[in-house]
Amino acid sequence: MRSKITVVGAGNVGASCAQVLAQRDYADVVLVDIIEGLPQGKALDLHQAGPIRYYDTNLMGTNNYEDTANSDVIVITSGMARKPGMSRDDLVLTNMKIVQSVTEQIAKYSPKGILIMVANPLDAMAQLALHVSKFPRNRVMGMSGTLDTARFKTFVAMELGVSVEDVYALILGGHGDQMVPITRLAAVGGVPLSELMPADKIAAIAKRTVSGGAEIVALLKTGSAFYAPGAGAAMIVDSIILDKKRVLPCSTYLDGEYGIKGVFVGVPVKIGKNGIEKIIEVKLTPEESAALKKSADAVAELVKIMKI
Ligand code: 2OP
Repeated sequence: MRSKITVVGAGNVGASCAQVLAQRDYADVVLVDIIEGLPQGKALDLHQAGPIRYYDTNLMGTNNYEDTANSDVIVITSGMARKPGMSRDDLVLTNMKIVQSVTEQIAKYSPKGILIMVANPLDAMAQLALHVSKFPRNRVMGMSGTLDTARFKTFVAMELGVSVEDVYALILGGHGDQMVPITRLAAVGGVPLSELMPADKIAAIAKRTVSGGAEIVALLKTGSAFYAPGAGAAMIVDSIILDKKRVLPCSTYLDGEYGIKGVFVGVPVKIGKNGIEKIIEVKLTPEESAALKKSADAVAELVKIMKI
């Protein structure tokens, strides 16, 4: 039997994610949204791209959560996107209502599923989903590091004129203005980035990465990034469906790891068919560790606002 993936939210991020997943051809995809016709139209359009792109993925669009039943993986993209001048954190009260009701439906119909949160503020929304679903922590994660490291890798590749495939980057912390690029560990083809680029250039790339989402919001004016966020979520789905055991930075509920307890932040984790199979602890410098704690505190503030 083919695996089943549900993408909640048929907006730009959800549709982009569904498109990448359809092309993987390893699972059927259900696109669900409250807007009548939107998920149905986009799913049918993506289905009809199959003969052109050579995939046999069955796609279904629906407004009914019963159709999502027994999904193996659920990607939650629903919620408002930010407008120019807004931080991701400004969305907390609006998106928490949406994410709460979506999670209730998902937990009811797919009690064994693995949840990947994409809605912002991402770490707080992942924490809300953990709370509402009552799933174990290995089955709830947030897509943050795959996107943030992709931005860092893109800028390094652009600067050095090398393949993005050979750039390694690690970003820890929440998916917000306090995220922590660990530039010390960045490398190109195994060579430390510090041997290939002056420190000020690396710092500029790290800064551009931290505000990478805002840069796109400012350009688009009416919404936020969606191609890279959609693909970033699909990258995590790959590792779950194919049980690849990839080590990817994901927003994860920490219970003492990194000296942080009771909050979601991005750290490297091993992802397989059981979701988060291992939390990997990187030895950090005192400065990096302090920055990670500050980032975790910023997420904890949002969690406090939600009163969960
Ligand atoms: C971003 O960073 C939308 O949070 C997403 O672009």
